[in-house]
Amino acid sequence: MNFHILTLFPEMVMQGLHTSILGRAVEKQCISIEAVNIRDYTTNKHGKVDDYIYGGGAGMLMQAQPVYDAYQAVAKKLNGPARVIYVTPQGRVFHQEMAKELSKEENLIFLCGHYEGIDERVLEEIVTDYVSIGDYVLTGGELPAMVMIDAIARLIPGVLHNDESLSAESFHNDLLEYPQYSRPEIWRDKKVPEILLSGDHAKVDAWRLTQSIERTKKLRPDLYEKWAMRQKN
Ligand code: ADE
Repeated sequence: MNFHILTLFPEMVMQGLHTSILGRAVEKQCISIEAVNIRDYTTNKHGKVDDYIYGGGAGMLMQAQPVYDAYQAVAKKLNGPARVIYVTPQGRVFHQEMAKELSKEENLIFLCGHYEGIDERVLEEIVTDYVSIGDYVLTGGELPAMVMIDAIARLIPGVLHNDESLSAESFHNDLLEYPQYSRPEIWRDKKVPEILLSGDHAKVDAWRLTQSIERTKKLRPDLYEKWAMRQKN
């Protein structure tokens, strides 16, 4: 998978996404991440990329031309069409299933807005998906793009060390993950549940499933309902 990020702050996304697990995945060439500086594509001789908003209103808007030309520079290098994700609080709210679906693409282009947003005409021209990371407003699209890229990248084969950590984690099967323990066996008078020390894998699995169900019911009743409905069908 190749991630392409159109942004005014390439150093922000490159630094964040080349750390820890994703940094290692880039080194192993499981994924590639490139940031394209929209400012490099402006035809304005002062390097300007934004302007006042027609009809009035506070703030500035990113102009169509530099965004479009930055997009074209990426698109023309690719073999075929790629989805262009505009990260915006107006989009569909991102979730694990969406991450899974997007992880199957060969290329993804993320468009990060700043200031008051981006001229509507270029969005109409190039954007295929409008995606939000939640019902709150951030100062720009870089953090949401990084959140989505992290969630998508870890689903790509080879990025994580073992596939097991994917199958047991939260949201798999609409359930939250069960509680986990490491050494020591007793910490501040709290003992690790006996069954986990039994060596009986079937019993451990059954205990974990019960814990997952109970935890989901308590912490995320909405998810629990979804899971319970699926059990009936
Ligand atoms: N840009 C600003 N806020 C955002 C959000 N919540 N999700 C996606 N993009 C954004």
